[in-house]
Amino acid sequence: MDKVLSGIRSTGHLHLGNYFGALKNFIRIQDSYDCYFFIADLHSLTTHPHPDDFHANVKTILAEYLAAGLDPEKSAIFVQSSVPEICELYVLLNMLAYKGELERTASFKDKVRKNPDNVNAGLLTYPVLMAADILVHNAKWVPVGKDQEQHLEIARLLARRFNNSYGTEVFVEPQNMDFGKGAIKVPGLDGSGKMGKSEGNGIYLYDDEKTITKKVMKAVTDSGPTRPFSEMPEPIKNIFSLLELVSDTDTVQYFKDKYNDCSIRYGDLKKQLAADICKTTLPIKARIDDIYNDSQYLSKVLRRGTERARESASATLKAAQKAVGFRDF
Ligand code: ADP
Ligand code: TRP
Repeated sequence: MDKVLSGIRSTGHLHLGNYFGALKNFIRIQDSYDCYFFIADLHSLTTHPHPDDFHANVKTILAEYLAAGLDPEKSAIFVQSSVPEICELYVLLNMLAYKGELERTASFKDKVRKNPDNVNAGLLTYPVLMAADILVHNAKWVPVGKDQEQHLEIARLLARRFNNSYGTEVFVEPQNMDFGKGAIKVPGLDGSGKMGKSEGNGIYLYDDEKTITKKVMKAVTDSGPTRPFSEMPEPIKNIFSLLELVSDTDTVQYFKDKYNDCSIRYGDLKKQLAADICKTTLPIKARIDDIYNDSQYLSKVLRRGTERARESASATLKAAQKAVGFRDF
């Protein structure tokens, strides 16, 4: 069975972008592949979180993964820092990653621009650690959003370079997973752009009904269409994009018809959107706190996931070390 692997950095709560862009797909495929899903806690250290937050953030993402439907019976769920093989491979790959090519990565340039006082080596080698995450399992498929494609390209480059340098075929070149419809971009409700933590426009799986309703009712709109079948401006398109993710087709069609004959009332549209987002997220939210507070269950899930992950990782690491020239005495 082909291996699928993906991860999310542990910073804050999961929002609808993470859910519809990544997590929901993970959940859908976990019956059909050998799945590894992890929490990238080491990657989150580039921004130096407070130690108490560092731990709580990992626990939050883990509880939200499980509440959303990742099944520990089917998938190996683990925390990056519990698999030391990743860091061992990271060292080997670092020797083959050149400063110039890492400096040209779009995400690195962006971080340097935004935080010129914190350009640490971990930030520069972020894509090498991500390559180690993937290559240590020889994962063939890596479902990620568009923003991660350049990192995946670096993972392929390092796999190829390692194989060529040592005359081996230890590593498989990983590919993004195509779900047929292309990568989803979940918009924000502030008029333009994507939903994201750094954008400050997230609707979170952890939000309660009142918070969700408040956020949706504040969505940017205009004074409404004045001609039948007129083109939708971007803020209205974004509301409809979210509606398409959470509502049934009849509801979407009902509001499209209302837009097209100019009788739409945006207040009604937003009320419907808020109600349908709640229908998707509140059952997930209802499970989060119980799971978060069940430390025994969380340790059990991680024990099992870590064991599976380390078994898979150590086999690849041994082959890589052998290729490099590690020998017994
Ligand atoms: P954030 O933008 O909140 O910092 P991350 O960078 O941690 O999110 O991304 C985690 C995963 O969620 C990635 O696979 C990313 O592609 C996906 N993702 C994040 N925001 C969106 C969005 N608005 N639409 C679709 N996918 C998204
Ligand atoms: N860089 C990814 C993000 O910010 C998280 C990540 C780390 C990841 N290692 C990975 C994703 C390996 C997929 C595979 O979202």
